[in-house]
Amino acid sequence: SQPQENDAIARKLHMQVTSTDELKKAVGYKAVDDHIQSGMVVGLGTGSTAYYAVERLGQKIKNGQVVDIVAIPTSTKTEQQAKSWGIPLVTLDTHPALDVAIDGADEVDSQLNLVKGRGGALLREKMVEVEARKLVIIVDESKLVSGLGITGAMPVEVTPFCWKRTMRRLLDIEAFQGCQVSAKIRQENDQIYITDNHNYIVDLFFQKPIPDLMLAARQLIDIVGVVEHGLFLNMADICIVSGKDGIRVIE
Ligand code: 5RP
Repeated sequence: SQPQENDAIARKLHMQVTSTDELKKAVGYKAVDDHIQSGMVVGLGTGSTAYYAVERLGQKIKNGQVVDIVAIPTSTKTEQQAKSWGIPLVTLDTHPALDVAIDGADEVDSQLNLVKGRGGALLREKMVEVEARKLVIIVDESKLVSGLGITGAMPVEVTPFCWKRTMRRLLDIEAFQGCQVSAKIRQENDQIYITDNHNYIVDLFFQKPIPDLMLAARQLIDIVGVVEHGLFLNMADICIVSGKDGIRVIE
């Protein structure tokens, strides 16, 4: 049956079933129901919340509630999930303009600036989502913060070549002075984590929120060896948030 198949896919994709799972499902489903119509080019995010948006879209395509959809996945994991639902996939090369993209986030501030990439997909996410006419972010309320950079890592994708030097450069960024920044190369099973694009990720940690986000974003991307960073500024149009009191929409 479909629910059993979905569980099997979730296990295969190493998704954790957490206590916030129902909250994630609620926003994932709502984003698709409210923002995807037939004929659209859709960006599909990555992570345990975006998972439910892909699931909902898959269901709706399967039962004919929406037709003529093409989608662009932001990771190989999402690509795998979308394929398992039979969602038609295209690329940015053939479809450079998207009607909508739906994705999760790690942190969301009051201006809808984001930290993304704790799931490792930041480069493809940013490439796809900057091309979307509308970016819909789906989170549970634990992701809402008053300043970016304090609940966990701010990921930076770097080239493997001389990554230690790139990591040192990241610690010297002027926009981070006063934030007590530290850096760690991301690892998985005692090996350096490798992104879908065959790069590494340096996770930056801050004791205090980043004060000037625009300056930080510029100085990050200016470092040779940095491929992309997890600050998604002025990109999100809508944020759908679920919490114990229900769902609300921030625009
Ligand atoms: C992946 C991401 C995810 O959107 C972000 O990590 C949120 O994931 P989740 O919904 O599992 O909390 O940026 O690169």
